[in-house]
Amino acid sequence: MRHATFRQLEIFEAIARHLSFTRAAETLHLTQPTVSMQIKKLADSVGEPLVHQTGKRIELTETGQALAVAARDIFAVLERFEGDMAARRGLQRGRLRLAAVTTASYFAPRLLGEFARLHPGIEVSLRVCNREQLIASLNEHLDELYILGTPPEDAALIATPFMDNPLVPIAAPGHPLAGKRRISLHELAEQAWLLRESGSGTRKAVEARFADSGLTLSPRLELGSNEAIKQAVLSGLGISALSAQALDLHPPGQFAVLDAEGFPIRRQWYIARPSGAPHSTAASAFERYLLAGRTVSEASSD
Ligand code: PGA
Repeated sequence: MRHATFRQLEIFEAIARHLSFTRAAETLHLTQPTVSMQIKKLADSVGEPLVHQTGKRIELTETGQALAVAARDIFAVLERFEGDMAARRGLQRGRLRLAAVTTASYFAPRLLGEFARLHPGIEVSLRVCNREQLIASLNEHLDELYILGTPPEDAALIATPFMDNPLVPIAAPGHPLAGKRRISLHELAEQAWLLRESGSGTRKAVEARFADSGLTLSPRLELGSNEAIKQAVLSGLGISALSAQALDLHPPGQFAVLDAEGFPIRRQWYIARPSGAPHSTAASAFERYLLAGRTVSEASSD
């Protein structure tokens, strides 16, 4: 078989498929004498006849049948190789446009950084905005992928959870509620609250938790970022509830995490894309990368 060529195998596979030299020649845009000659050479390399011809009828010999199977296997392996090459080529260069809600900025750059190290040719960009702005850009297909908390039900998107996102109530360590056990939702609602701007997913989730019990929060201060909220909490201006990820980089004990009824609010982080929008190889690879390391707890409800 050492002298057989891929071209000969390809011609033979076409003959085996159509059981006709004429049809094989047509499909491969070759002349019939070329087809006949190549098959003769292939049979010489194999050392046995591959086809029987009676008049116009063609039949494969047993060896011919086995060779047809082998040829298809070889072509399938090559096709898979070609597919992998194309996928890798697509990943060598490319662009990944990601948008994340403000709170996700505590971990999204790290995830993107790890991904960018694995795929140095991919240019990655991360846009950070609050939930309301993110949902508006999702509806306009401004970016390819989006990281957000609970996805809106009315939007046309495909969203998959990849990490837990508990919201915890916090106060300054010296606050009267720090260290108190089982604080009721009522008592918590009466505190001076520091809330994110309206449009924030964090704020929406916190207000919804109180609204479920018929309680309304009246914020003492509205602040446009988690960092500003943390500073205000530490200055003793009031309490708040933030994603546990917003506290990750702080030494334990810097904030008092309150033991309150209805908390933590169990949420999850989702990776989402608009349904029906084109999806680049880089975007699929980032999704796969995120979901491979997924750490959502089964018990979490969102
Ligand atoms: P936010 O969103 O940063 O707009 O508050 C966070 C979230 O939805 O969990």
